[in-house]
Amino acid sequence: MRVVTQDTFGGPDKLHIAERSVPEPGEGEMLVRVAAAGINPVDLAVRAGAFPLIGDPPFILGWDIAGTVEKTGPGVTDFSPGVRVMGLSGFPEQAGAYGEYACVSADEFVRTPENMPDVEAAGMPLAGLTGWQAFFDEADLKANDRVLVHAGAGGVGHLAIQIAKAFGAHVTTTVSAAKTDYARSIGADEVIDYRATDFAEATGDFDIVLETVAGDQLLNSLGTLKPGGTVVSLRKAGEDAERMAAEKGVRLKSILVHPDAVALQKLATLVAEHEIRVHVARTFPMEQAGDAHRFLETGPIGKVVLVN
Ligand SMILES: NC(=O)c1ccc[n+]([C@@H]2O[C@H](COP(=O)([O-])OP(=O)(O)OC[C@H]3O[C@@H](n4cnc5c(N)ncnc54)[C@H](OP(=O)(O)O)[C@@H]3O)[C@@H](O)[C@H]2O)c1
Repeated sequence: MRVVTQDTFGGPDKLHIAERSVPEPGEGEMLVRVAAAGINPVDLAVRAGAFPLIGDPPFILGWDIAGTVEKTGPGVTDFSPGVRVMGLSGFPEQAGAYGEYACVSADEFVRTPENMPDVEAAGMPLAGLTGWQAFFDEADLKANDRVLVHAGAGGVGHLAIQIAKAFGAHVTTTVSAAKTDYARSIGADEVIDYRATDFAEATGDFDIVLETVAGDQLLNSLGTLKPGGTVVSLRKAGEDAERMAAEKGVRLKSILVHPDAVALQKLATLVAEHEIRVHVARTFPMEQAGDAHRFLETGPIGKVVLVN
């Protein structure tokens, strides 16, 4: 099978096609014919060596997989060959989504809803689970909560807005000027162009803030919370932020997303019910994985996806 790999850490030009043998599914595993693989910022950081999650190259990047079950290993009873599936595979261990086939743990995958094409399914697992785990595992999102989602047109943000709206929250979001109409179109109640307006001055009284940027912005986000509110940070929080949270009587959680088929099934159900939808900015063939990484860095709306 063809895979995208790299021999050294570095820029997008390090990614190249290679041949590998198709793996054999072990106990609890299944072989998935990858139709599409979602790209996430973590892929770019691992490629460059900035976040060496899976050791030194050579390795195969990618964790978001959508495709069709080709073969099941011993002990897999929930899936059979021919079923369309999606999942966050093995994160943060190496999963090898950027290839024609991948062996995955069946218990990290769900059936892809009929109304969800594979390219959209590939954009869901990591980004959707991040929003879900932030809202429901780390905070306690309820109807009428006031929620601030930073970077609301990004991969995580556009799904987080839709999830929070599906549960009846009032959602404010920060985006750059060109993305304000899009953010409104997916349900954001208040949209702040963060370069023109200081969100910390313009708004406040939040129950939950989903914080994607960290640094000074995290401190400002803490300042917008109600007493007892929660900031969930997708980046590591510094000691200054920890101190500020304790002084203000608010909660600060830093998270790393993890596979969770129960939560992914709930996201799949929201898709099937037309409550949420993955927006795919652009697809690239696997051979152009380097271009796809460059494109993600330009700040597209929604997700960038590789297709076979
Ligand atoms: N901890 C975890 O488990 C976890 C999981 C998923 C993602 N993450 C991290 O969370 C971040 C977002 O991920 P993603 O997949 O959504 O990335 P993405 O699709 O690349 O979107 C990021 C967006 O952030 C916006 N942005 C940049 N600076 C901003 C600011 N100061 N205020 C508001 N928006 C800003 C940019 O859009 P504009 O044009 O609007 O500026 C950019 O497109 C990344 O750093 C990623 O590594 C962490």
